[in-house]
Amino acid sequence: MSKMKVAVIGCGMIARTQHIQHYHDNDKAAIKMLVDPLEERARSLAAEFNVPHTSADYRAILEDDEIEAVSICTPNDTHAPIAIDCLNAGKHVLCEKPAALNMEQVREMQAAANRNGRILNIGVVNRYAAGVNRIKDMIEGGELGRVYHVYCSFRSHRSIPGLGGPFTTKSKSGGGVLIDWGVHFLDLIFYSLGQPGARTVSGEIYGELAKDMKAYAYVNMWAGPPNYNGTYDVEDFVTGLVRTTGPTISLNGAWAQNIGGIRDVRGVSGRQGRRQARLRQRRLQSIRRQGRHAAGDEPVVRQDGQVRLGDRRFPALRSFGHQGPCEYRSGHDHVRSHGRPLSFRRARERSNAVIQSLLSHGCESMAFFLTNWKPSNSVLVAAQF
Ligand SMILES: NC(=O)c1ccc[n+]([C@@H]2O[C@H](COP(=O)([O-])OP(=O)(O)OC[C@H]3O[C@@H](n4cnc5c(N)ncnc54)[C@H](O)[C@@H]3O)[C@@H](O)[C@H]2O)c1
Repeated sequence: MSKMKVAVIGCGMIARTQHIQHYHDNDKAAIKMLVDPLEERARSLAAEFNVPHTSADYRAILEDDEIEAVSICTPNDTHAPIAIDCLNAGKHVLCEKPAALNMEQVREMQAAANRNGRILNIGVVNRYAAGVNRIKDMIEGGELGRVYHVYCSFRSHRSIPGLGGPFTTKSKSGGGVLIDWGVHFLDLIFYSLGQPGARTVSGEIYGELAKDMKAYAYVNMWAGPPNYNGTYDVEDFVTGLVRTTGPTISLNGAWAQNIGGIRDVRGVSGRQGRRQARLRQRRLQSIRRQGRHAAGDEPVVRQDGQVRLGDRRFPALRSFGHQGPCEYRSGHDHVRSHGRPLSFRRARERSNAVIQSLLSHGCESMAFFLTNWKPSNSVLVAAQF
């Protein structure tokens, strides 16, 4: 079978580290074009990965009949218009998360995919993680009994990305930590639970820690550096409760909380800390088996991700890791077989609807956080035997 010709639109961090690399390593795909308005970026990656064409404008792809599929790796506000144009031109689309700025745009994207008979897949790559699928299998196989609640936490210690840039400007990003990280976690939960319907959503979002942008002390400014003349109008913390037709879900997510200790904040302000990288490691872990253990047993999450509960040991079930290549392989196979990739539409609509409900609250309330970080990035499934 001939190699599938693909193009990658946007040549920043995620394109360089994931999409381009994995297409390059995939013997069923060949990258024909790289696109970025900063064309030098595209040219330099084209030289590195032996890609024959570059362009500053994605519309060059629309005229190229040889290109079957595209990856969209651009800022959130451009996902919908670029995806719709590509779908209308007959291309299959793998679009980075979040799908778009809001549900209305997501529906328009899906309508374009349906109209043109093309696959639109959103990069919720963690569905390909072994740990996630292990939990899903355990739930489906009844190993956990009745799952009645999911605790979800994705919190980091003072790590707002690119303060003042696109990540913190709502018109460009659609929201803060909820749309940036929450989209992964909510997606995994709905996926693992077999897509229950969302009945009610309540919650609150807060943009507090960087209200005074110049006074904000940080340990990590990924997607930085800060632009103090820019905008910060998104949430750095979200809390919520979702009632579904299955379990309830409680969630707490933060780009920035005081969960690493005030002293650390002062000590390493403005520097990238190795310790912090560990704190930000995201894990999906821990099955809490009620009824089989002495009262008071709590899951202990070790630094390597292993979970201990009483005398039981659960292996490290990392949600982020080597799933990237699987997503690209699966994308290729589904395009060729006209099947549906794992992260197909219905699921995404559910988690997106929840996100939209939570984001419709304002960023008006005041809050101050001082909590212990462990286990700061976790999804706990509570089940009854
Ligand atoms: N799946 C994940 O876990 C994950 C991780 C990181 C980022 N992302 C998503 O990937 C997207 C990009 O993030 P990033 O961190 O790579 O950002 P980035 O800023 O490093 O790169 C974005 C690139 O897009 C280019 N660009 C902007 N407008 C464009 C247009 N109209 N046409 C073509 N290129 C354009 C920019 O010049 C830049 O090079 C975001 O939506 C982000 O949410 C997903």
